[in-house]
Amino acid sequence: MRIFSGIQPTGALHIGNYLGAIKQFLELQEKEDCVFCVVDLHAMTAPYQASALPRNVLDAAVCYLASGIDPEKSILFVQSHVPEHTELAWILNCVTPVGDLLRMTQYKEKSRQFQKDLNAGLLNYPILMAADILLYQTEVVPVGQDQQQHVELARTIARQFNKRFGEVFVEPKTKLTKEGAKIMSLSDPRKKMSKSIPGSCLYLFDEPDQIKEKIMAAITDTGREIKYDPTKKPGIANLLIIYSLLSETPIPKIEKKFRTKGYSDFKKALAQVVIDTLEPFRKKHKELAQREVYVKEILSQGAKKARSIAQSTMEEVRKKTGLV
Ligand code: AMP
Ligand code: TRP
Repeated sequence: MRIFSGIQPTGALHIGNYLGAIKQFLELQEKEDCVFCVVDLHAMTAPYQASALPRNVLDAAVCYLASGIDPEKSILFVQSHVPEHTELAWILNCVTPVGDLLRMTQYKEKSRQFQKDLNAGLLNYPILMAADILLYQTEVVPVGQDQQQHVELARTIARQFNKRFGEVFVEPKTKLTKEGAKIMSLSDPRKKMSKSIPGSCLYLFDEPDQIKEKIMAAITDTGREIKYDPTKKPGIANLLIIYSLLSETPIPKIEKKFRTKGYSDFKKALAQVVIDTLEPFRKKHKELAQREVYVKEILSQGAKKARSIAQSTMEEVRKKTGLV
């Protein structure tokens, strides 16, 4: 089964990226045919500094590898190294109704945020994402909840294309994790954990002291009971989910363990769980950050393999669309 997913090169990975997306990648790469991509072209839709992009792309690759993506098992590459992504994106532009793009939740949010400086790339973002997915005849796309709508649009685009030009694309399906699909912000548990909210993130490669400090400062709810109630106690519920997923302990068991304890004891224990589980990631990250040549070689091999799949899909697409 072909699996595809992408992550933007926009800073360090947080625990939401890990629990929502990467943890699924690690399970899938053991059995399936996985392709993972650092989506640098998507990163251009938000204001960015050209001189910083190469560093960020390399850092993102290091993060992927440090969190367990194995280049022996999966293809790892950079989106712009395979020009077929932009070529297919153009063609898909011509089968996608503008109305479908205008109703995307992420576009509605971002177009508000970038009101003064709104580029067409932000609107067309999901089309490039559809091209990423469809080029590899992807069956399953593991992502966090915020990307589900985009994957569904890719599915619609595949269907529309196939109907108009003949069967070329597989219709992809979204894969969400049961609990980690939407990890909430530490500073505002009613919003999702996101790099754009200050104090929101626990990063995968944070040092133990930073982890302790952030968890102790995490916003919790009134009351003192450690109980899973996402509506009334969103702060504690989010911390319980993180505890449960990282320690692989069911939530009721954690509630029982802390029945007679307060928030502070629970937070201290959670900090220790996070510090211990992330220890191997921190170690591997430090090691790989020193091995730039090795990481670049992985990306270059990855692009070669990705390109051969992408080229064969594009050959079919060109034939079907009359581009001969
Ligand atoms: P991004 O860093 O926005 O490119 O996201 C990379 C992956 O992480 C995507 O599959 C997202 O859906 C997922 N993701 C981002 N934020 C969260 C979150 N707070 N909880 C769960 N998954 C997330
Ligand atoms: N848009 C995704 C995000 O922001 C990243 C992404 C780009 C992606 N192309 C993709 C995810 C293809 C899955 C499949 O998280």
